[in-house]
Amino acid sequence: MRMVDIIIKKRDKSELSQEEIEFFIQGYTKGEIPDYQASAFAMAILLNGMTSRETKELTLAMAHSGEVLDLSKVVPVTVDKHSTGGVGDKTSLVVAPTVSACGLPVGKMSGRGLGFSGGTLDKLESIPGFRTNLTTDEFIQQLKAIGIVLTGQTADLAPADGKLYGLRDVTGTVQSIPLIASSIMSKKIAAGAQAILLDVKVGLGAFMSDLDNARKLAELMVEIGKLMGRKTIAILSDMNQPLGQAVGNSLELQEALNTLRGNGPEDFREHCLVVSGYMLALGGLAKDETRGKKMAEDALEAGKSLSRFRDLVRAQGGDVSYVDEPGKFTKASLISEVESPRSGYLREINACVVGETAVFLGGGRERKGDPIDYTVGVIVEHKVGDWVKADDLLFTIHANDKEKLKLAKQIILDAHRWSDEPVKPLPLYYGIVD
Ligand code: URA
Repeated sequence: MRMVDIIIKKRDKSELSQEEIEFFIQGYTKGEIPDYQASAFAMAILLNGMTSRETKELTLAMAHSGEVLDLSKVVPVTVDKHSTGGVGDKTSLVVAPTVSACGLPVGKMSGRGLGFSGGTLDKLESIPGFRTNLTTDEFIQQLKAIGIVLTGQTADLAPADGKLYGLRDVTGTVQSIPLIASSIMSKKIAAGAQAILLDVKVGLGAFMSDLDNARKLAELMVEIGKLMGRKTIAILSDMNQPLGQAVGNSLELQEALNTLRGNGPEDFREHCLVVSGYMLALGGLAKDETRGKKMAEDALEAGKSLSRFRDLVRAQGGDVSYVDEPGKFTKASLISEVESPRSGYLREINACVVGETAVFLGGGRERKGDPIDYTVGVIVEHKVGDWVKADDLLFTIHANDKEKLKLAKQIILDAHRWSDEPVKPLPLYYGIVD
């Protein structure tokens, strides 16, 4: 078999066989297929799609590119969650310790920033020393010992996704249902959780901007999860405006810490509680999601979620003092506040533009493996539907480059749209797929 023939076949819109898909995944994982062929192949998939059979086979090939854990031998039930990617989406940082603090172990393999969307691993690494490359043995030992793990793909777990994910980030090949579904579900299957909650984002700051495609993605992932014997459910949630206020790695981590302390933006806190509620119900700890949400709220209020986050940081080598002394986080050298140029109801805060601006400021990658600037980002002050007075604080930019700061201010200002008429707040959710 030759990789070039497989690329041509997909370019010409033909259906690939299981052998061809496995040939690509095995060859790419071993380094026998170069990045340039993998990029062309990813682009052909993005443009021409895959059938549901091809997507399932791609997912399984990626999951089996490394070890597939069976966590039922480690703890009775483990639950995992994954977001399809959003702007200001720091949910895992609050939900994982909350669900774990309620008594349900969470073993999660997260990702890095992808396009305009941030990644949990990059946010966690803004804590000095925090390790996101645990070995399989470390993953299992930590899950047993403290009931929580947040790590990335390794040479052992879903390595094919680790390589492809980094490549897609910088080759314009993120927005594809088969590539997103296989990326997410291969990680979930390899990490071995018996129950999986998928947070499928919809809107301007999501990879699926319309509800129909988001639902298709959710249905495909739920089907793959169930095929693999995992209890799987998807929430369709809004991503037209940033979730919470902070966008940017260290800024988001600090907002998550604030939420773990019982504060934090209302929309973000509510989202975390709802997601935790579903996870607790899915893992069998709560009778239903409403009772699960109440359990999560109690854990958060009692400081148990924060304490579990501290355990996580300590276990993965991070400097725990950052959890309790937010002032320790390095700040960007230029912090600039921008006021509203007019009064009115906010009708849009374009999440995609805000996410792209955080990347432009240095918070994301332009080339595979590029270092990132943890300190930069944007803090938005309002939500769609809010009445804002002229001269009210609208947003704050954290930057390390004067020119970039100037441009970013204008771009984020343009990302805000006003109306003279009252505007309905955006819903948090559009439905459930189970
Ligand atoms: N999250 C992932 O892990 N992969 C994607 O492709 C998109 C979001």
